[in-house]
Amino acid sequence: MWGAPMNSADLRAFAEGRTLDALRGEANALCESVWGKRVFVRGLIEFSNHCARNCLYCGIRGANTRVSRYRLSSDEIVEIVREGFRLGIRTFVLQGGEDPFLSVLDHCRTVERIKDATEGTAAITLSLGIRSRSEYAALKAAGADRYLLRFETSDETLHTRLRDGVPFAARRRALDDLKELDYEVGSGFMTGLPGETEETFYENVRLCKTLELDMVGIGPFIPHPDTPLWSDAPPSLERTLRAVALVRLLLPMANMPATTAAGSIDPLGREKMLLSGANVLMPNLSPSEAKRHYLLYPGKVCLDEDGSSCLKCLRARVLRLGKELVFDRGDSRSAALRHVG
Ligand code: 5AD
Ligand code: SF4
Ligand code: FES
Repeated sequence: MWGAPMNSADLRAFAEGRTLDALRGEANALCESVWGKRVFVRGLIEFSNHCARNCLYCGIRGANTRVSRYRLSSDEIVEIVREGFRLGIRTFVLQGGEDPFLSVLDHCRTVERIKDATEGTAAITLSLGIRSRSEYAALKAAGADRYLLRFETSDETLHTRLRDGVPFAARRRALDDLKELDYEVGSGFMTGLPGETEETFYENVRLCKTLELDMVGIGPFIPHPDTPLWSDAPPSLERTLRAVALVRLLLPMANMPATTAAGSIDPLGREKMLLSGANVLMPNLSPSEAKRHYLLYPGKVCLDEDGSSCLKCLRARVLRLGKELVFDRGDSRSAALRHVG
């Protein structure tokens, strides 16, 4: 069905010829044919909310003076990893703003220490924004396995405006560098950004396929009151579900999280994503004080719960869907296939 390369008009015609429930059903069936009923756990650590950038949609943008800024030390990060490891977690995601105080060398040391603390068995995913190719290479050499860098929108003009001057080409270059350096590469986008057209929506979906992504994160845009994009327009989960289902149909092997943003606008948002093609959950292991100050958008869930409470909660939620929470590294099958032959 998906053999021939599809342009965004074909994709749109395909999607509009089906109800959202039909798309979700097809995507869930395809996901289960590849991954079974397994839902993979990634432990998220939000290590710094300092950011030199000023993305218009983001609550921790550098210009937001109402944020109280924090930065976890390497010791604190390793301690969180040890605790997560004890709970069974085998993939850790280090995410932060583009914090100029932390050098690539600092990140490399932390990556090495995590590898040591987990006897080399845990997968490390970094989400440190746009960096130079040599910096990505150094982080890979230190032991990083995967990298997340959402493109946010495929509309180049909108990208430059919303990212406060950062051109889309810089992001594309970074994603190409990461792929060439043999990272498992994750990207994705927000749905419902102001200025997004139907055409952009389908182009966003198609770009995930063009990039042959190993991991795809998609979430609803949620307006933050302390940003220039504040508005009363309610975010739409349906748009996110449609996007997740379509990307799953295009990329059966990709790992796709049921994102916290979806859970933040609908108490069952993550469950709905897991029934639309998503196969990953990312409990937040950051200390409560850190989580509270890492508010990219308002209404974020799980601010008061610690990692182990979230794991229990997620296990029960996943069971209710007839699925099973698993702790394997869950390497991307498309990345694994690249290594064959
Ligand atoms: N609403 C929803 N998601 C957001 N992100 C940033 N700001 C918002 C917001 N206001 C997303 C971006 C970023 C990811 C870490 O969080 O897609 O890549
Ligand atoms: Fe910084 Fe990322 Fe927020 Fe942009 S989205 S302001 S790069 S933390
Ligand atoms: Fe965090 Fe339910 S997932 S409390």
